[in-house]
Amino acid sequence: MKAAVIIESLTGNTWKAGEMIAANLQQENWSITGVSAAKTPDHKSIQDADVVIVGTWVHGLFVVGQSPWGIDRLRALPAMAGKKAVGFCTFALNPGRSLDVMTRELEGRGAQVIGGLALHRGKLAEHSEEFALRLVDATSSL
Ligand SMILES: Cc1cc2nc3c(=O)[nH]c(=O)nc-3n(C[C@H](O)[C@H](O)[C@H](O)COP(=O)(O)O)c2cc1C
Repeated sequence: MKAAVIIESLTGNTWKAGEMIAANLQQENWSITGVSAAKTPDHKSIQDADVVIVGTWVHGLFVVGQSPWGIDRLRALPAMAGKKAVGFCTFALNPGRSLDVMTRELEGRGAQVIGGLALHRGKLAEHSEEFALRLVDATSSL
C-alpha cells in the first residue's frame, strides 16, 4: 500500500508521530509517497497514495472545548475522492471529540475515512506503532 502523511504541528509532537507512523508502515512494506505539512501539502504525494494519513493536535481548555487544531487547513486540503483516509491527533489530557471532527472534515474532502486514533503525547512511540499496526490490519481486510 502507498500512504501520504499530512501533518499539522506546533511544538513537534504530531510531526514526530507522523514520522514514526511512516517508519512503522515502511517496516510493514508500505511505501510512503511523502510527509508534508498541512500548510503546504504535497499534492503529488496525495495523488500517488492509496491512503492519506492526516495528523493534528488537540486544542482546547484541556477538559472542555477540545477540537483538532487547523480545521481550516484540513478543509483546504486537496480533494481526496477515491482515497482512503485516516486521522490521528496528539493530545495531553483528553482528546474529546477531536477525531470525529477530523473524520467529518476528511469526508468533506471526498475521502473514505477508515479509522482514526488519538495518540497521547507521552506515549508517542507506542501509540504510533499501534496506529500503524491497526491501519495495516484494517486495510488488509478491505
Ligand atoms: C494552546 C494549547 C491548547 C491545548 N489544549 C489541549 C486540550 O484541550 N486537551 C489536550 O488533551 N491537550 C491540549 N493541548 C496539548 C497538545 O494537544 C499536545 O501537546 C500536542 O501533542 C501538541 O502537538 P504538537 O507538538 O504537534 O504541536 C494543548 C496545547 C496547546 C499549546
